[in-house]
Amino acid sequence: MTIQKATNITWHDGNITRDDRERLLNQKGIVIWFTGLSASGKSTLARAVEEKLFEQGHLAYVLDGDNIRHGLNKNLGFSPEDREENIRRIGEVAKLFADAGLITMTAFISPYRADRDKARELMEEGRFFEIYVHVPLSIAEERDPKGLYKKARAGEIKQFTGIDAPYEAPQHAELIVDTGKYSLQESVELVLDYLQAQKVI
Ligand code: ADX
Repeated sequence: MTIQKATNITWHDGNITRDDRERLLNQKGIVIWFTGLSASGKSTLARAVEEKLFEQGHLAYVLDGDNIRHGLNKNLGFSPEDREENIRRIGEVAKLFADAGLITMTAFISPYRADRDKARELMEEGRFFEIYVHVPLSIAEERDPKGLYKKARAGEIKQFTGIDAPYEAPQHAELIVDTGKYSLQESVELVLDYLQAQKVI
């Protein structure tokens, strides 16, 4: 539980509401929460979905693990506590982006179920979609685009997800995309079809 430190603060709403912004953008402000192992394809998939949405005239934005850790979350590492705080902040930022009317995509390992559930609880019903980017560890390890699994196996990186830190797979994800089975294009179609069925776009 994060304790509220500040006192004497009041929430202010402007005259322009989320409804107004959504009307302007002709879309629903939502959060698509991609979760999965490192190298499962979360960022690649989110970026490809963003591109397709853009072509269709939709405004989306990707919050990406490695990028956010360069700025907003540069003071966080990979201990369970730091990962929890990482996801807590992203959940709050994603909520703001969705309130701005954007189709907000987050691409973080987010290995702990409880942390993902907390991010979900910040959102109204029907505005949070968890997508499990699933791939067997063996495939993620084969891909190893940043050579991190190799380092983790050699003991050069500690607490690496899937090796010596846990990944808790979602039990009730809205969508599971198996990137070991589907091509990138097929995976993008799965996500877009889902968004259409949910009347997000
Ligand atoms: S999370 O667990 O807190 O959600 P996040 O998605 O922000 O992780 O960052 C994951 C990325 O950080 C990985 O894709 C990888 O490039 C890098 N990384 C560095 N150290 C670790 C580690 N110990 N475990 C997992 N990923 C790591």
